[in-house]
Amino acid sequence: MAGGRARVAVSILDADHSNMAYAIRRAEQEGADRFHIDVMDGHFVPNLTFGPKMIKGVRPRTELPLDAHLMISDPLQFIDEFLEAGCDSITFHVEVDPTQIEPALQAIRKAGRAAGLAVRPGTPLTALEPYRKLLDIVLVMTVEPGFGGQSFMKDVAAEKLLAAREYLSHKPVGAEVHVDGGVNRETAEFIGGLGVDILVVGSVLWIKGRDMGREIRLVRALADEGYQYRLNHGKPPIPRDAMVTFVQLPKALARRFMADIEQGGIPVIALRGTGQFNPDGVRDYDLLVPASAEALTTERHAADRARYLDEAARWREAYIAEHGVRPPDTQRPGMDGPTPPTPAERASRPAASG
Ligand code: DX5
Ligand code: ZN
Repeated sequence: MAGGRARVAVSILDADHSNMAYAIRRAEQEGADRFHIDVMDGHFVPNLTFGPKMIKGVRPRTELPLDAHLMISDPLQFIDEFLEAGCDSITFHVEVDPTQIEPALQAIRKAGRAAGLAVRPGTPLTALEPYRKLLDIVLVMTVEPGFGGQSFMKDVAAEKLLAAREYLSHKPVGAEVHVDGGVNRETAEFIGGLGVDILVVGSVLWIKGRDMGREIRLVRALADEGYQYRLNHGKPPIPRDAMVTFVQLPKALARRFMADIEQGGIPVIALRGTGQFNPDGVRDYDLLVPASAEALTTERHAADRARYLDEAARWREAYIAEHGVRPPDTQRPGMDGPTPPTPAERASRPAASG
């Protein structure tokens, strides 16, 4: 688990398509925070990639969140298949047929997953305006979608990345700005300064002979450095403050606890991470506090943390009793931690959005 603020989503677009299971395992071992899966239909973009079956196939291979980026003309037609495949989030493009946008976003939210809209470099952010209340994710493209390995459009990033946060202002917990295209060690610090949560990194990780883990750590560290440099009014952030996970809790409880902690002046960041899956199919959120404030947070809130964790356990039991589902707790061979729910389990679960 990363110690800082920024998260790296590894795009598998430029991995070896004949051996995706290996690519996923390798990237997870090398420290990926999550996966970014680029779905292309040869129509919305001039390229073809994977479909829901591939995502379904890799779902049991990793604990990490799977973010689907749909570059397809008809997202609504396929949304149920992508939900059923086990994506943690689904982001599609605001440039598609507008009659599909709201129903597709609603379907994603109803399934308890994070819903996002992506904007091409030439599309203004104001295109998101009618949908802002339905968004968990805004994905800003800093290359023309379709291919990996293109150069980062700095002017697009400068214009949109900070502003993208505005469209998520209704969401105190779990809102994410993603940047996609041309992200690497040259561009990460600049991007971090614009407050991005998730940096999608593709082609540079899959270059033959490249140390993938080091590349991921560099991008993450540089993005954090950029963020803190900006907060520090342009003075180098020394010492750099890492963020550490204080607790993992279901969304509603995470929101309350976050408010309690922040009341005392300690800044908290809430992100989807590797938290366990709850019986409603939604993961626990990570609440991160600055490492320099960890001791103080523990001193003030250790007892609250125990209470919140108890409350979470009671909520899970009550949910299971009421809805007749069990949280996925079976161990997979050779892996620690809970298995994500099967698509059937997920599909049988009622809405849990908010
Ligand atoms: C491009 C895709 C990206 C791609 C990024 O259409 O949306 O996710 O993988 O690749 P790089 O990091 O090489 O720009
Ligand atoms: Zn993408």
